[in-house]
Amino acid sequence: MTQNITIPMVDLRAHFAPLRDEILTGIGKILDDASFILGNHGRALETELACLSGVAHGVGCASGTDALMLALRALEIGPGDEVIVPTFTFIATAEAVLYVGATPVFVDVDDRFYAMTVAGIEAAITSRTKAIIPVHLYGLPADMPAIMALAQKHGLRVVEDCAQAIGAEINGQGVGSFGDIGCFSFFPSKNLGAAGDGGMVVTADAELERKLRGLRNHGSWQTYHHDVLGYNSRLDEMQAVILRAEFPHLAAYNTGRRQAAGWYAEHLAGLDLQLPESPAGYHHVFHQFTIQLNARDAVKAALHAEGIASAIYYPIPGHQQKMFAHQAHAHCPVAERLAERVLSLPMFPELREEQIARIATVIRRTLHG
Ligand SMILES: Cc1ncc(COP(=O)(O)O)c(C=O)c1O
Repeated sequence: MTQNITIPMVDLRAHFAPLRDEILTGIGKILDDASFILGNHGRALETELACLSGVAHGVGCASGTDALMLALRALEIGPGDEVIVPTFTFIATAEAVLYVGATPVFVDVDDRFYAMTVAGIEAAITSRTKAIIPVHLYGLPADMPAIMALAQKHGLRVVEDCAQAIGAEINGQGVGSFGDIGCFSFFPSKNLGAAGDGGMVVTADAELERKLRGLRNHGSWQTYHHDVLGYNSRLDEMQAVILRAEFPHLAAYNTGRRQAAGWYAEHLAGLDLQLPESPAGYHHVFHQFTIQLNARDAVKAALHAEGIASAIYYPIPGHQQKMFAHQAHAHCPVAERLAERVLSLPMFPELREEQIARIATVIRRTLHG
């Protein structure tokens, strides 16, 4: 029997409740000013996110997927080029490569940190490789220092997929500042989420910023002059004003997530499952709290029976998706095994310890009777 969900994956109602008045006032002001696209809130958010990432420039756009596509276009990657992507990620990482006419080359990931290893990336480099897109999956940064050293050695560009990792750091350096361009998503369930779609690219390079600004606006750098084929991909003012209301609290949201992750680790200790890990110096922002276990499907069913949500990110690795059936099959045994074993548990800043204790009790009972 299907139960009502009492512990959801995310609780966006609880998240927005304290900001409701501020957001409604901001939206009222936008309606009064009738400034909806490419206005002051978008520009201010660009500065705020660039600053958080530790780079000079931010350029808002319509989604995280568009951020990746715009980044590749700005780097002049296109037909005939190969771009290395992890197979264990949301499909948008590979879609962006296809949108610019290039070929995604799938690489397997590490069983503990869910990112491509440097050895895996190096083995996939060919004479056609132009770029690497490391993904900071679940909120844990990929090994950017090693990836940047490899990229430099082979003359490759690096686009960081930071969609799940806003605020994450390696030894104090923000994600998005390691590669040529960092790409963020403001999909509602992300650590900083809009009330709709939104995204942003950040870069230290002023020339890339100039290109990105025109590409997101119909290939136009001067009104009604269109120099290249661009896109209608702007972050609108309604979303920007909502994101700006949340932005000052982002560090507290991420602290709430890290605290919840700590409670999970305590309550799940000693059970027959693999907990998330972070290398020393890595600041994990727990977009997801993802465990691995053989009895994944039984645990998922038991949680559901108790009204507790859980999710599988991701049940099918990229290289096994039907849309890539025509492409030579990559061999990615780790991702294939992860697809059978991963389970993401409820994770949001407002999650309480007693809720986590309840989740852990169901898991313990299912695994150990
Ligand atoms: C890893 C990753 N990359 C890219 C995206 C695409 O972002 P969006 O949904 O804003 O297009 C997402 C999330 O949706 C994601 O999780």
